[in-house]
Amino acid sequence: MALDLNDIRIGVIGLGYVGLPLAVAFAERFSVIGYDIAKERIDTLRLGVDPTGEVSSAELENAKRLEYTDDFSKIADTQFIIVCVPTPVDNHKRPDLTYLLNASKAIGRSLVRGTTIVFESTVYPGCTEHDCVPVIERESGMRLNEDFWVGYSPERINPGDKEHSFTTIRKVVSASSPEALELVDAVYGSVVTAGTYRTASIQVAEAAKVIENSQRDLNIAFINELALLFHRLGIDVGEVLEAAGTKWNFLPFKPGLVGGHCIGVDPYYLTHKALEIGYHPEVILAGRRINDGMGRFLAGECIRLLIDAGRPLKGANVLILGLTFKENVSDIRNTRIVDIVDELQSFGINTVVIDPLADPEQAKHEYGIILNSLDATSRCDAAILGVAHDCFRSIDASLWETLLEAGAPILDLKGVLNRSDLISAGFRYWRLGTSPQSLPKKRDLSQRGRIEVDVVHVGEKTKSEVDEEPKLIGANKAGIKSGSYRSSFE
Ligand SMILES: NC(=O)c1ccc[n+]([C@@H]2O[C@H](COP(=O)([O-])OP(=O)(O)OC[C@H]3O[C@@H](n4cnc5c(N)ncnc54)[C@H](O)[C@@H]3O)[C@@H](O)[C@H]2O)c1
Repeated sequence: MALDLNDIRIGVIGLGYVGLPLAVAFAERFSVIGYDIAKERIDTLRLGVDPTGEVSSAELENAKRLEYTDDFSKIADTQFIIVCVPTPVDNHKRPDLTYLLNASKAIGRSLVRGTTIVFESTVYPGCTEHDCVPVIERESGMRLNEDFWVGYSPERINPGDKEHSFTTIRKVVSASSPEALELVDAVYGSVVTAGTYRTASIQVAEAAKVIENSQRDLNIAFINELALLFHRLGIDVGEVLEAAGTKWNFLPFKPGLVGGHCIGVDPYYLTHKALEIGYHPEVILAGRRINDGMGRFLAGECIRLLIDAGRPLKGANVLILGLTFKENVSDIRNTRIVDIVDELQSFGINTVVIDPLADPEQAKHEYGIILNSLDATSRCDAAILGVAHDCFRSIDASLWETLLEAGAPILDLKGVLNRSDLISAGFRYWRLGTSPQSLPKKRDLSQRGRIEVDVVHVGEKTKSEVDEEPKLIGANKAGIKSGSYRSSFE
């Protein structure tokens, strides 16, 4: 399989957030064929436009050695194939390998002896060798490490992040044989300026990627749990984190919704693998539960504020600023803003969603959400700033006055608005921990879990004295039941 780097043509399968920047970077050094199953995507790229906004038109224009195609047979002309297709989860949060296995099938059908195939899609440990390779072998009739080789090199880019890019992030590389690893390392090493890191096996590289995002998910889950706790205590979690952050080794995570194609999805790949081998992952799933419940909790706080303001819920209008999964990107995949929308709508509340960065057709297709524009919006009863796009941060008090009824609550989920300006303008400003007055009336916590004392005389003794298993009422009755939205956090 000894190949001269100068002879290599690279095929990239899947030209999305990951595949396109990678194809453009490789085109600096190699001749590259970029294939995508979506014809309209190929047409747009040929016009010099990347709909994801990750690659500029100038960069596309400069990538002279990159050819786009929706004809898979052109991939057969390449000796080094890189697979960058989606790996989502299904409705049951189980890995959906459809795209990956379809790509493997297509590769197998037109495989040329001597080809190396590197997978970049995020998967669980063992997926490349136990799921993809058998499909390639079956479709091609060829054998791994005799006729073709595989590698795994996880992608670590962060959409919207211009500092950490494909070439400036150290690249983890792995392969099915030592010779293949030499080649994979040499190919990536020739364009990735940050260098490469070789792992001892493909499974180590797969596991390393999936734990990077699982770790992030868990760290945020811990901070979300603190936010839920401190909010109940009426303590501003932002202030607590700022104070704790003065210690050198305190990690700077913030509370919030965890969406997107990676952080909220990848942990399920790991838990799937764990369950498959009979290990029940507790910590990872606990983190997922907390993070997946944040949308309902936040919607519940909005409902509480509407009730406090005396506004009937049915027919109330709530303005929601932001739909994408994070600030200043157009990606709406797995956005958890939809949990807020769904929860509010389940109470008969109308939601008015604004996001100039999101694609209206995609929003409608994926979530049934019709995007509105700010100027066409009539005054709403409350607002939720859900995504801190630059364009929302700059909304000033006078614009808020045209958007909302007087005194309306504004829930600043990202803590980026000018609190004192909004309060001076008469709005009710809310962020996690800042509205102790809107918490449920203080209960005597000593009553929580107290033993019910039924004073029923049984001979000389009261019933409470003879019951061996006294009934606990506090835990149920004093538990917060003011809205179903709270129950998952109790
Ligand atoms: N987006 C990120 O920031 C990021 C970061 C690290 C890792 N990843 C991982 O990289 C992989 C790709 O993610 P993405 O964000 O680029 O996805 P994406 O949806 O932006 O792009 C995937 C592309 O693959 C195409 N595609 C699907 N099936 C195909 C097939 N059989 N043949 C050819 N093309 C096909 C789609 O049309 C789409 O254009 C996923 O496994 C993801 O978890 C993503």
